[in-house]
Amino acid sequence: MGEVEEKLKDYEIKREGEAEILMLKSNAVFFNPVQVHNRDMSIAVLRTFVAKRKEEHEALMDKRNKSRQKAKQSETSVPNGDDASGSQHDEIDAHEKELNQAVDGIDDSSKEVPKTPSWKVTRELKPPIVLEALAASGLRSLRYAREVDGLGKVVATDNDKASVEACKRNIKFNGASAISKVEAHLADARVYMITHPKEFDVVDLDPYGSPSIFLDSAVQAVADGGLLMCTATDMAVLCGTNGEVCYSKYGSYPVKGKYCHEMALRILLASIESHANRYKRYIVPVLSVFMDFYVRVFVRVFTSANEIKNTPLKLSYVYQCVGCDSFHLQCLGRTVTKVKNHPIKEQPRDSPGTMILSKEPTLEANFSRAVAVAALSKAQVKKVKRFLPNPERHWGPKVRAGRKITSKHVSLLGPEAINGVVNGASSHGDGNGAAPDESALEHEEMKDDDENEPTTKRQKISDDEPASEP
Ligand SMILES: C[S@@+](CC[C@H](N)C(=O)[O-])C[C@H]1O[C@@H](n2cnc3c(N)ncnc32)[C@H](O)[C@@H]1O
Repeated sequence: MGEVEEKLKDYEIKREGEAEILMLKSNAVFFNPVQVHNRDMSIAVLRTFVAKRKEEHEALMDKRNKSRQKAKQSETSVPNGDDASGSQHDEIDAHEKELNQAVDGIDDSSKEVPKTPSWKVTRELKPPIVLEALAASGLRSLRYAREVDGLGKVVATDNDKASVEACKRNIKFNGASAISKVEAHLADARVYMITHPKEFDVVDLDPYGSPSIFLDSAVQAVADGGLLMCTATDMAVLCGTNGEVCYSKYGSYPVKGKYCHEMALRILLASIESHANRYKRYIVPVLSVFMDFYVRVFVRVFTSANEIKNTPLKLSYVYQCVGCDSFHLQCLGRTVTKVKNHPIKEQPRDSPGTMILSKEPTLEANFSRAVAVAALSKAQVKKVKRFLPNPERHWGPKVRAGRKITSKHVSLLGPEAINGVVNGASSHGDGNGAAPDESALEHEEMKDDDENEPTTKRQKISDDEPASEP
């Protein structure tokens, strides 16, 4: 047995795409062959991102060159440079500054390239740097390095010693091209990302289960316009099996519906956006998929304090019918554009309005106490009561016409009136005008209770006993 074969006897070689890794037969390092689709898809997105980034950079350079050329032309047309050209220069400088900020990460090395017009900017775009924060065996990083053209560097981090050793071994196993591009570090991904703000053009998160604990640092590590790729395999949580857990991890309460997988994607996107917003950043989803047993999202991260105000427009409450599949979305916010329908027009100097308004006011407010007293009305001075007293006791609405007056109406009419009426009623009966006895009052109460019933009953009472009031 040769020396190499002896060394490799504890390992088996796994090949995926253009990368090969050595897997310990004891399976000490995470490797999931099922996730091959995940890695294939990420490579496709990464290739598109690299091309798109190049396109965007070229467009930016074109714009920049045009504005420079314009500035150059205006300089030659006004040789002495008066005030007007000065302000134009300011404007161009401001524009230039803006462009400069946007092309962060552009290599200055080609500044000295000769033969190009002085206004022509030919700065080169730095090749993108990728961070695979949770790398395990490093298979993904190796595939990125070997299968995506134009990448600058791939950094693979893991907090597991055995994984980092395996990753370093696999880098060597994949030869010079991998060694020149991929580097492995033993680090907690969160610490690594938070200590490298905006340093990576691409950040890849592929954790066990939920990525929630990595999101805050990941959104800070992505460069402006960079790409964040994120997997979540905790589908049970995201699909509503345990709504409270989902809320605690992602800040959304899931609905268990037929669309739960799409909702899982949206919950993950909302959570990334929420973390990004904390740092004046926002996301633009590029591709979001649910496949096999997980969701994977690809988002670009930008910085704009103004743009983050639009976040509520991207979020909704979902009202799900409990009887059928219908649902309704209520957006968290809406934009209102203020249109100035009546802008102020300049008025002629001799117009009455202009003349009145051009005079300085002569009136001055006097807040002294004497003035305040003088301002009182006569009634206030005499301390006349603001609300007149009732003309009689128990003044107010009377018992409804046709209704029997009973002891229950004491608070409305007063005891005297009650006694009067009830006595009057009893005087009809026995003619002696004596106060009603308790049993009589009880009897009346019972009747009164009946009166509160619908009209039919009232009718019955009025038929039997004529009302005491006319
Ligand atoms: C699902 S595996 C990654 C698989 C890998 N991306 C691939 O495509 O093969 C998750 C890895 O994250 C690592 N990990 C977990 N928590 C971490 C942390 N806080 N910092 C760095 N790595 C971590 C684990 O050691 C494990 O190797």
